[in-house]
Amino acid sequence: MEQLQINNIPENETDRQFYFIEQAKKYVENLTEELGRTPTFCVTTFGCQMNARDSEKLVGILEQIGYEEQDTEDADFVIYNTCTVRDNANQKVYGRLGALGTKKKKNPHMRIALCGCMMQEPSVIEKLKKSYRFVDLIFGTHNIFKFAELVVTMFQSKRMVIDIWKDTDQIVEDLPIERKYKFKSGINIMFGCNNFCSYCIVPYVRGRERSRKPKDIIQEIEKLVADGVIEIMLLGQNVNSYGKNLEEVDRMTFAQLLLEVEKIEGLQRIRFMTSHPKDLSDELIEVMKNSSKICRHIHLPLQSGSSRILKEMNRRYTKEQYLELVEKIRTAMPDVSITTDLIIGFPGETAADIDETMDVIRKAQFDNAFTFIYSKRTGTPAAAMENQVSQEQVKESFDRVLETVHEMTASRAAAMVGKTVEVLVEEQNEHDHNLVTGKLSNNTIVHFPGDPSLIGKLVSVKIEECKGFYYFGTMESEGESRYEYAVER
Ligand code: SAH
Ligand code: SF4
Ligand code: F3S
Repeated sequence: MEQLQINNIPENETDRQFYFIEQAKKYVENLTEELGRTPTFCVTTFGCQMNARDSEKLVGILEQIGYEEQDTEDADFVIYNTCTVRDNANQKVYGRLGALGTKKKKNPHMRIALCGCMMQEPSVIEKLKKSYRFVDLIFGTHNIFKFAELVVTMFQSKRMVIDIWKDTDQIVEDLPIERKYKFKSGINIMFGCNNFCSYCIVPYVRGRERSRKPKDIIQEIEKLVADGVIEIMLLGQNVNSYGKNLEEVDRMTFAQLLLEVEKIEGLQRIRFMTSHPKDLSDELIEVMKNSSKICRHIHLPLQSGSSRILKEMNRRYTKEQYLELVEKIRTAMPDVSITTDLIIGFPGETAADIDETMDVIRKAQFDNAFTFIYSKRTGTPAAAMENQVSQEQVKESFDRVLETVHEMTASRAAAMVGKTVEVLVEEQNEHDHNLVTGKLSNNTIVHFPGDPSLIGKLVSVKIEECKGFYYFGTMESEGESRYEYAVER
């Protein structure tokens, strides 16, 4: 393809990226002519909500520069936004990448990009350079805001383009974003993590904790609400430490930020993720309790119920402190749902430690628990610990824990049957088109008869039947149902 002249590049980073969006548009126009049709892209996201939000940024840029989205990976430009929190996430990427390579052999004009957390690991880059030469562009988590510029570089280069930064203190605002849902959106309130839990790779691949300014967050939400969003999810690895590294003029706590967000007219529901138990304040509980918009759900990862293991994990709370916190939350908000993450098989974990975890599961009465088998992440302190647990022991503990979790969550969920609650309708049911699927304030899912015109609306639904993790119900009324919802609490 013909090379374009690049000159007079703006200094301000946002302007700079808009400049490259214009450049990239010209390359995509040329490609359109060459192919005789609009070129397509497909972004595949692995991992957490932060990655999902990052993918929306990629889609925003790709649509701006003239690509058209498609669901399948036989697109002209395929991007994998990767996760590396557990090894199986990595293996999935390598597996699917092999299949993409075969596709590219048949369609040489196809382009492939990889980004996200996995790319921040030097060993991954080495492997890609050696065995996956067909990848066109590789970048990391810190320079995702440069995507438009990187795409231009990719068009100009015949070789693999690799740009990975070790860290960044930049937060670039106001770049294009294309939301997956019209009526709800995630919002980053902070990036990175400073906690260094001993098993976790996130601080290494996402860098140090950086909070966005309250003003930027509020402005972004206001814009989203003006564009039809009624539910937002505030995102951070540890939202409870929001604001700590802001300059004095901007500084506020997470609870104070929630109060500001609550004031936004037209916004109906506020969610947030994730809460680290060590930083969840009384102030936050109070704000939540008095709020009519903050959803009745706290995701509060426990990881282990054994104080000894928690210490080894560097979680900085004990079993007792965690249970006290749960008690405090439930006393303030009896209808709150508390969900958690558990890791089974951390180095040195014994059957007695698992007993402690099960004790917490029973006492805390979790509404749901995501149970993960410990995965050794190179470079983390836990990877160097000597007493790694055998596979058989992990399997046995995992099954024991899962059984307890299922018993617990099923009995918690059953308590909702017969109640009428507020539901945000999210989509048509995949299997039965006469049903729609929505979410309760407490984040559980309900299916009920309805048509797609309800999508994006808050409706009142009577919960009729509990299926363990989800419900069947019937709609009682359409439209905003604040009153009935308030009665329900
Ligand atoms: N910041 C969040 C968690 C982000 S990672 C928090 O602290 O709560 C999401 C979950 O993945 C974690 O809660 C943990 O349960 C799990 N996880 C992280 N590292 C893991 C590892 N090495 N092996 C298994 N599970 C892990
Ligand atoms: Fe990982 Fe711990 Fe940070 Fe969560 S708080 S991202 S588990 S280091
Ligand atoms: Fe995975 Fe990165 Fe999220 S490692 S869990 S995608 S922060």
